[in-house]
Amino acid sequence: MISPKKYAKAAKVSPNGFKTTNEFFNYVFKDEEMIWMGQNTNHLHDHSEIAEAMIDCINEGNYCKYPPPEGFPELKELVVRDLGLGDGFEALITAGGTESLYLCMNDILEPEDNAITCDPGYLIIDNFASRFACSVISIPIYSRECGYKLTPELVLENMDRNTHMVSLIDPLNPLGSSYTKDEIKAFADIANDHDIYLLHDITYRDFAMDHHLAADYAPEKTVTVYSFSKIYGMAGLRIGAIVATSDLIESIKSIVINDLGTNVISQAGAIAALRSKNRWVDRIRNTTFRNQKIIKDAVDEVDGAFIPVYPSSGNMMAIDIHKTGVDPLDLADYLLKRKIFVRQGAYTSRAFGDRYIRLSFSIPREQVEIFAENFVDVMEFLRPSN
Ligand SMILES: Cc1ncc(COP(=O)(O)O)c(C=O)c1O
Repeated sequence: MISPKKYAKAAKVSPNGFKTTNEFFNYVFKDEEMIWMGQNTNHLHDHSEIAEAMIDCINEGNYCKYPPPEGFPELKELVVRDLGLGDGFEALITAGGTESLYLCMNDILEPEDNAITCDPGYLIIDNFASRFACSVISIPIYSRECGYKLTPELVLENMDRNTHMVSLIDPLNPLGSSYTKDEIKAFADIANDHDIYLLHDITYRDFAMDHHLAADYAPEKTVTVYSFSKIYGMAGLRIGAIVATSDLIESIKSIVINDLGTNVISQAGAIAALRSKNRWVDRIRNTTFRNQKIIKDAVDEVDGAFIPVYPSSGNMMAIDIHKTGVDPLDLADYLLKRKIFVRQGAYTSRAFGDRYIRLSFSIPREQVEIFAENFVDVMEFLRPSN
């Protein structure tokens, strides 16, 4: 028998009534009536140009060939240009931010290193880091004092001479906190001064009203993780990128998994998405942002519940229900029965998972209103009587 790896993912607890997590996801995926607030995906596209480009690609039949292994040059260039990064930067196209994260960890971390992450955060980052580094320092950030995010001071307090990477998810899944220009500059100074790499995961960048790239301040020390799953609404197509200096990309190329390149149809969609972005991005960003207010009004009606970071800079937020006595798992289960898919906090936090649910809101306004009504109602029903 193969012994479990030290970094083996803890078996996920299957939601009530499902034998496996996979069965659960199949169930929510197939249910056309399900209101999809559980995966930070984006359901606001009309898909016209993106879908057309992919349909053309299928009709041309070119998918019987392998694509260029690092991505079509046009797409690589469009990604770098989208970030406004100049000469010296390059993009490597991947099958999503997830693959990008893995490759960055694999390339940068050595067995004696440690990596700094935060809790709450995107837990697969900790898992990937633990596969290549000696240890992962997950800093608790669920407090008003630090603004519900990693701060340069917290990094300085927690790092040691073996720290080789700091992960900055920006905006942060699950809370929606993001970094100011001064904070990004301070992280860049730490990276430059201490020979540390910044893993800047900008998966939710375009939902933020204001966003700053670490690559602008620590170009040699930053790997930027890019995804087409969120603002571009292409999660199921599994496409993303790593953007870094050509030297760093050259090094990452030596450890790739997808040696034969990334899905041709997804790349055709991604090219169309980037080319058409200025025609749809403001509509999607603004609708998403406005949807938050509907949720805030509902949360304000529930005694003891609050939103730690409001407004969120992402397309998701946490609702803290700890003081109400309601278990986030029960709340998620009850909402699911009403065909509303949200996640309990344990999905994004080891230390604070019993305090909140996480939900995303880049969905039609009417669906957010259905959530708002049901949230108030279910909380009332589940609240323990004194
Ligand atoms: C912070 C963060 N990074 C990366 C990803 C993965 O993105 P992708 O779908 O591009 O693999 C997610 C997905 O939710 C995420 O929240």
